[in-house]
Formats: sequence, structure tokens, C-alpha cells
Amino acid sequence: MLTRNPIIAALDVPGLEQAEKLAKELAPAVGAFKIGKELFVAAGPEVVKRIRATGASVFLDLKFHDIPNTVARAVASACRLDVQMLTVHASGGRQMMEAAEESAKAHTRDPGAKSPVAPLVLGVTVLTSSNEATLAETGCAGGVEEQVLRLATLAVQSGLPGLVCSPREISLLRKVLPRHIQLVTPGIRTGNEPPDDQKRTLTPREAIQAGADWLVVGRPITAAPNPRAAAENILASL
Ligand code: C5P
Repeated sequence: MLTRNPIIAALDVPGLEQAEKLAKELAPAVGAFKIGKELFVAAGPEVVKRIRATGASVFLDLKFHDIPNTVARAVASACRLDVQMLTVHASGGRQMMEAAEESAKAHTRDPGAKSPVAPLVLGVTVLTSSNEATLAETGCAGGVEEQVLRLATLAVQSGLPGLVCSPREISLLRKVLPRHIQLVTPGIRTGNEPPDDQKRTLTPREAIQAGADWLVVGRPITAAPNPRAAAENILASL
């Protein structure tokens, strides 16, 4: 039994107006919106404010990876925008992740904080575009799965409350991580959409059954003839 809507619609559009229009249409049918680099670099913090103004939660997916002090400050800036989820690269290491989580928690103690709840800081392990060869060229011996497990474990030990993972990693991670760790997964396909660049996908229901807490869904909603109906259908399928 779902206690909340787990669908995060990816606002993969180039500008503020398109994002706001889509968000207003979809807000009643989804649990949150993901704002990534394309939209944020084009439209800036204003787009976060506009989406938050619809009442929807925001997942700011900027995948921070820098020195701990810079990441902590970037997280603080994201908190001031009142986002509910954000991402950091787990390969940034323990100190960086601890600084990110501490910064998110510190925000809740800020008397000016809009929300009393710290945003979920999610660790990104190995990008799905990487394979063994990509890892090898950056000095990482071993397979993708081994590296995902290493980084996921490090992220949890560093205090992060969640991870972004590919659909094929959900079951593996669920076996080894504490149950309270939130898993957020893209690569969701219903089977009704035209083929695209996502290779190893799961249906929304399969991903939830495998143990995902949140589903990031882009084109199956945004490229559908009726995005609102597509989101409602996905929700009904869970
Ligand atoms: O359109 P689609 O459903 O493939 O969109 C998925 C979203 O999740 C996109 O914003 C994409 O960049 C993001 N994502 C992904 N795979 C990852 C990480 C992020 O598809 N491994």
C-alpha cells in the first residue's frame, strides 16, 4: 500500500515557461518534479521558486561533486530554495558527503528555514552511461556492480539517507542496505512508449516491487499525447 505518490516527473525542458506549464498540468498527478542541469542552467533559481509555488516538491538534480566546503555551501543554497531532494556524487568521498548531509540538517535549525524537514541528500553511485571500460579509464579496477556497492555503502556510512540507482540495481542494493535508505530510480518504461536510449528498464510497478521508493519518469509522461493522463495511468498501475 503506497502512502504517497512516488512519481517524480523529470522536467527535461529547456526553459522556464515550458517547465511551469508542464508542472501546473502535472502537479495533481505526481509526487514531485525533478529539475536537472539543462533547465537549471537555463532558468536558474527562479524555476525552482515557480515550481515550488505550485505546491509541488522539487528534486534538484545537480549532482554536486566538489571540495566539501563548496558542496556544503551549495547544499545550503539549495535548502534556501526549499528543495526536498538533491544529489551529490558518492565518488566525491566520505568527507564531502558528510559535509553535504550536515549542511542539509543544519538548515532545519535555521530560524529562517521554510521547511522544518531537511531535504533528502541522495548519493549518485555509477552513472548508467558508464561501463567497465569507463571505470578503468578513470583508474577504477573491477566491475560496475562492485563499484556501485562500494559507493552505495560509503554513502550510507557517510550518513546519506538515500541513493539514486538504476532499475537493475534496486534488488541488489535492497539486499545490503538498511531499509530506511530511500532508493530513487530512473529508467522507468511502461511498455507503451516508442523505443529510446533507455536500455535496461523496469515498469513502474516492477520498480516499486523491487524496492524503489521513488520513480523518476521523463518521456513516458512528458512526451505522451496527454501527460496528465499518462501520469495518472502510471499511478493507477502501482
Ligand atoms: O525520459 P526518461 O524517463 O528517460 O528520463 C529519465 C530522467 O532521469 C532524465 O532526466 C535522465 O537524465 C535521468 N537519469 C537517467 N538515468 C540515470 C540518471 C538520471 O535516466 N542513470
